[in-house]
Amino acid sequence: MTEPIVRHYGPRAYPDHPPFSYPDYRSTVKRAPSQDLLGIVKTLTESTGPGPIWSEISEDDADLTTNAGTGGEAIGERIIVTGRVLDEHGIGVPGTIVEIWQTNAAGRYVHWRDSKRKAPLDPNFIGVGQCVTDEEGTYRFLTIRPGPYPWGNHPNAWRPAHIHFSLMGPAIGSRLVTQMYFEGDPLLPLDPIYNSAPGHSRERMIGSYDHDITEEGWATGWRWDIVLRSEEGILEESEEDE
Ligand SMILES: [Fe+2]
Repeated sequence: MTEPIVRHYGPRAYPDHPPFSYPDYRSTVKRAPSQDLLGIVKTLTESTGPGPIWSEISEDDADLTTNAGTGGEAIGERIIVTGRVLDEHGIGVPGTIVEIWQTNAAGRYVHWRDSKRKAPLDPNFIGVGQCVTDEEGTYRFLTIRPGPYPWGNHPNAWRPAHIHFSLMGPAIGSRLVTQMYFEGDPLLPLDPIYNSAPGHSRERMIGSYDHDITEEGWATGWRWDIVLRSEEGILEESEEDE
C-alpha cells in the first residue's frame, strides 16, 4: 500500500504581496480583515487533496480563439502567452493546472456583472482557458489580447489590459491567483490594483514581448514566467510497504 504524498508549502511571502487593505483600491478597505488572522493547522486533507483532475483538460482548452465551440474564431489581436511555472530555486513545476480568464478584445467579460458596458460581446469568445504544465513547467495559451476596461474605483478609472491566472498544484495549499499585464501598457502606473503590489515585486506581473515566440503570419508572442514560493517545498514521499 502506498501512503499519500504529503507536500509542505511555505507560508505566503507577505512582503512581496499587496496589503489586505489598500485604500486607493477602494473595495479592499471593506473586505480586508479587521482583526488578526488566526492560524489554522493544516491537515492531510489540505496537503494532499483534492488534487486536480488532469484527465478532464484537453489541448483544445488552451486555445481561447476557438474554445467557445461555435466553429468560429474570436475577433482581435491573436497572441501566444507562454512561460514556465518555477519554484524559487528556478526548477520547473510540472503538473500544475493553469487557468486563465480575461475580457475580449473590446474589454468586456462574459459575465452578468459586466452587462452595463457599452462594449460588444464576441459570440466566438468565452474568455476562459486552462492547461497543465509539462515536464519543464511550461504552459502555453493561444488567445486574443484583452482590452482595457473602465471600472468604478475612481473618476475615469481604466484597468490596464490583463489576464487573470489561477495556478493549482496537487493540493489546496498550493493555489496562487494573480494577473499578468502587458509590457509597455500606459495604464499600468495609473492602476491601483497593480500599484498595490510592493514596488520591488509588481514588475514580476508584467509579461514581455518575445519575438522568438511570435509566429510569422499567425500571432505575436508574450512570455511570462511565474515563480512560486517553495521554501519548505520538500517532497516527502513515503516508502512503499513491501
Ligand atoms: Fe479583470
